[in-house]
Amino acid sequence: MGRVLLGVTGGIAVYKVCELIRDLRREGFETKVVMTPFAERFVSKLTFETLSGNEVHVDWEGDPLLHISLARWAEVFLIAPCTVNTLSKIANGIGDNLLTTTVLAYGGPLLVAPAANTVMYKNPFVQENLRKLKEKGVIVIEPESGVLACEEEGEGRLASKERLVHWIIYALSPKRLKGKRVLITCGATREYIDPVRFLSNDSSGEMGFSLARVVSWEGAEVKVVAGYTTAEEPPEVEILRVRTSEEMRKAVLENLEWADLVIMNAAVSDFRPRKRESSKIKRSSELTLKLERTEDILSELGRRKGNKFLVGFALETENLLENAKKKLKEKNIDMIVANPVDVIGSKHHRGFLITKESYEEFSFERKIESAKFIVERIVKLISS
Ligand code: CTP
Repeated sequence: MGRVLLGVTGGIAVYKVCELIRDLRREGFETKVVMTPFAERFVSKLTFETLSGNEVHVDWEGDPLLHISLARWAEVFLIAPCTVNTLSKIANGIGDNLLTTTVLAYGGPLLVAPAANTVMYKNPFVQENLRKLKEKGVIVIEPESGVLACEEEGEGRLASKERLVHWIIYALSPKRLKGKRVLITCGATREYIDPVRFLSNDSSGEMGFSLARVVSWEGAEVKVVAGYTTAEEPPEVEILRVRTSEEMRKAVLENLEWADLVIMNAAVSDFRPRKRESSKIKRSSELTLKLERTEDILSELGRRKGNKFLVGFALETENLLENAKKKLKEKNIDMIVANPVDVIGSKHHRGFLITKESYEEFSFERKIESAKFIVERIVKLISS
């Protein structure tokens, strides 16, 4: 997957990096750790050596070119947690220990994840140094707000593990969608019968969220319009929440102008109750619901698409390929991903990817793999 050099400086958030290394290794990344002497007072080298499976360095220890070999080895260099002291040194080109000297010797993507007390983080000298880092192309992974180790509340908590992993993958990805704006819908809509009851489906949102991750790793700007979801939200992505198909339609149309590429992954309800009761329906021996069709958002987009690239999904119980091909044509879209119904709520994902010219069958253990496959094909088509 990639070689990650992890720079660890002396802050209490070092303990979070232990889990990060374990997760990266599980995902197939190789990690090496370089620590400042102060970081070693919080966590021992042995912890990181055990977790990374590699030797951990604090000092040159008889190898005067260690900073060069570490810098050459790394495909991405993340400093987490990064104290305000170390970030200020980096911003000013100071190399006074192995970690900061390795930064000077390194020319690849550099990620800095600060963690500090709020007052220290907001200090004008520190803020000035952060600006300098950003100007030079360093990715600053902003800290989060919450209760800090000093028991104060405010901005300064190290970014979550999920956000750190996101930026590592981002740094390693080719950015073939840079400059593109991608609108993705996902999840299930709810069509209310009365204030507490509704018609819906089992969509988890995982496919749409996976697509959002992959396109943002590829450098695109992403907005997600999500109905109800149970899957974990992708980090660093704007998510607009909606409840009904009509709210989803409005949110999509409002953002249509903005988008270059629209992926309609949501499991939008095809029907809604003709009347939404304003009070809770009382129990009776029988109840008949009259349903009406909802607007087909994808067809509406197909009519207004201009030169936008439009991707739809099709869920079918039978004649998967034929029905999906028909939908591609009728809805005037560029690509359709056809899935059998058993993919709903399941980790496994399979189906056909259909364009006007061809179709391919696919099957993956995880939806993130399917998302990579789909985005790969989109990239090829929009850049050809
Ligand atoms: N879709 C939509 N608006 C709806 C219903 C569906 O935009 N009211 C979109 C979905 O997001 C998906 C595609 O249309 O991208 C196909 O959805 P699907 O339910 O498989 O097909 P339908 O067109 O609704 O046809 P049918 O249910 O009859 O198979």
